[in-house]
Amino acid sequence: MKFFVDTAETDQIAELNDLGMVDGVTTNPSLILKSGRDILEVTREIAEMVSGPVSAEVVALTADEMIAEGRKLAQIAGNIAVKVPLTWDGLKACKVLTGEGYMVNVTLCFSANQALLAAKAGATFISPFIGRLDDINLDGMDLIEDIRTIYDNYGFETQILAASIRTVNHACQAALIGADVMTAPPAVIKKMAEHPLTNAGLESFMADWAKTGQKIL
Ligand code: E4P
Repeated sequence: MKFFVDTAETDQIAELNDLGMVDGVTTNPSLILKSGRDILEVTREIAEMVSGPVSAEVVALTADEMIAEGRKLAQIAGNIAVKVPLTWDGLKACKVLTGEGYMVNVTLCFSANQALLAAKAGATFISPFIGRLDDINLDGMDLIEDIRTIYDNYGFETQILAASIRTVNHACQAALIGADVMTAPPAVIKKMAEHPLTNAGLESFMADWAKTGQKIL
């Protein structure tokens, strides 16, 4: 499973990137707002830091304007994936932009039928939002499972990018189902290293080690 980091905070991306944990980055207008940075400037900085796909989202609502914005974003670097919303216009923009050789991430996907349309429009990535479905009392993982089945039934190459990952359980379940990629905030990725038995085991090893009176260095 590839790990994308869902943030525009460059220091946090750098920390995980140094550990080899970053296969790509996703941003959106809310994350750009949170960063307080200029979209073109921060996206360029991230794209230089990371070799994998860096998603940058269009903000236009019509296909023609999305295509124009997408072309501009794609000029930032060779590893930009243009992010378009899963609307009819977004699908049109996806078709044109992928036809021009750009990577396209179709975002705000909440149904298997939407994912099917995105694959038919040639999307590089489909982003089903798990957490936002859970927020309205639906099971986001059912959607990942349905999309996996449909894509495998027909051999679609669009990669399932499990998005809106909020918990370590989301990450594990998405991996078990076979999502190609997950994008998660840095804090969730770091939390995946935690286990109370690891902490308890370490504590007892340290206590016993102190009793030996030995030193390694
Ligand atoms: C991913 O591309 C999305 O921008 C992101 O995962 C949304 O997450 P949220 O629902 O926690 O805002």
